[in-house]
Amino acid sequence: MKGKFEELDRKIAEAKLGGGEKRIESQHSKNKLTARERIHFLLDEGSFEEIGMLVTHRSTNFGLDQQVVLGDGVVTGYGTVHGRLVYVFAQDFTVLGGSLAEAHAEKICKIMDLAMKNGAPVLGLNDSGGARIQEGVVSLAGYADIFYRNTKASGVIPQLSAIMGPCAGGAVYSPALTDFIMMVENSSYMFVTGPNVVKTVTHEDVTSEDLGGASAHSTKSGVTHFTYANEIACINGLKRLLSYMPQNCEENAPSLPYDFKGSEKREQLNNIIPENSNQPYDIREVINGVIDADSFHEVHKDFAENIVVGFGRLAGKSIGIVANQPAFLAGVLDINSSNKGARFVRFCDCFNIPILVFEDVPGFLPGTDQEWNAIITNGAKLLYAFSEATVPRITVITRKAYGGAYDVMNSKHIGADMNYAWPTAEIAVMGAKGAAEIIFKKEIANASDPEAKLAEKEAEYAALFANPYNAAARGYIDEVIKPEDTREKLIKAFKMLENKVEVMPKKKHGNIPL
Ligand code: COA
Repeated sequence: MKGKFEELDRKIAEAKLGGGEKRIESQHSKNKLTARERIHFLLDEGSFEEIGMLVTHRSTNFGLDQQVVLGDGVVTGYGTVHGRLVYVFAQDFTVLGGSLAEAHAEKICKIMDLAMKNGAPVLGLNDSGGARIQEGVVSLAGYADIFYRNTKASGVIPQLSAIMGPCAGGAVYSPALTDFIMMVENSSYMFVTGPNVVKTVTHEDVTSEDLGGASAHSTKSGVTHFTYANEIACINGLKRLLSYMPQNCEENAPSLPYDFKGSEKREQLNNIIPENSNQPYDIREVINGVIDADSFHEVHKDFAENIVVGFGRLAGKSIGIVANQPAFLAGVLDINSSNKGARFVRFCDCFNIPILVFEDVPGFLPGTDQEWNAIITNGAKLLYAFSEATVPRITVITRKAYGGAYDVMNSKHIGADMNYAWPTAEIAVMGAKGAAEIIFKKEIANASDPEAKLAEKEAEYAALFANPYNAAARGYIDEVIKPEDTREKLIKAFKMLENKVEVMPKKKHGNIPL
């Protein structure tokens, strides 16, 4: 018996060493943790149960039979984060560069299948040189098996991807199919084709970091939702993000104890909107003045900054927040902000997270760039996403609600449950100056003092429409409230909507404008 137990111990020790001491050192020298260290920091202490530690590849191509490593370059299993079950896979760059082939992919698929059957999130820690070149098409098949499962799991269980090293070629499409991506600055990158191929095809000289590093994907492409300075911060971010989500689409997110630094914040809310309606303010001040203390977890912070989206909590309950940002491009809607908002709304709706909208929007961004890149189709995504969402939905109009953007931003007409406006709200087809210029064009042109006439007509239009009362008179706004009362109103309204059931017409699936 002793010999048999020793054999097992030997195999476990061998598997835990992955690609060996030298490669572990090399990994550390790049400021990267190993796959097992990442899992150690991610999961509750002692909760990790490994699955498939002794799996090996079966290939003999190009000397691979001399490079058989137990586990085949990926550590998989389950454990808990803050006491809640999760499934995890972590690619091990020390083994054949974390490259993915048949056995490696089978291990990932196995835990994805378990996650689907048992209704719990899958967390992927990616660090891989991509498809294992020596195994050929088998590696590509392995990717496709994962993509297929990613798609089937979409909207059923949360899938979160942390990129902690290379993620190139076809490998990028698994994270891309998951709900959220996070990257580590200066040590992770994602691209479909690397700098060498780019140079050959387009003659552009670009570094890996510039092409597909955390900064490029958080500011330019919007591929990543979060970036972190180092791996520990990234792992902590992953854990925090999970705390806002339910385990699966049949459940609600957990309620957590909360704090609200009350009266001081309420006072501040009354003073946020500037006297001049063209002056900016930071919508985050409104968000943080309403939700539980320190609960805002912003998503896509550096991308399409004219809309702010993120998770928060109201009286301990998870909500998704979508807010126009007057401090950036006056809060206008454009292609990127519409996409950003739509994707977030759809995530919340998949996973029963109620949606809160703060609205201050002057309309859609004009210009050939926007029109030729399909602001029509892209703006429609946000409209579609709100319209199809069946979770409780509440809107607070803080200031401008102009034009078609008024309709889009979770208006009553597209199914919002409760619509509030602050007394500072201006709900109109457009701003007073633009409106006066159009409808009184002739009168202004013929006036002895056109500027004075314009000012007079602008004031006339503003008096009639730059307020929330026309909309309230028609019931499009349920209540005009003082800013200081917003938090209490929202807590009560979300409680009232807690058992909301809305059934969509029977269909296979809708056809969101893509
Ligand atoms: N298939 C098989 N082995 C791979 C691999 C892959 N896709 N990617 C990396 N490896 C191996 C390397 O051969 C190397 O093995 P060795 O140490 O025994 O020589 C080991 O993993 C480490 O890779 P290395 O290139 O030394 O690391 P690096 O940090 O300098 O570079 C990459 C990392 C990812 C940029 C580089 O390995 C690379 O370009 N890989 C290929 C990427 C690719 O084109 N993949 C296919 C597209 S899906």
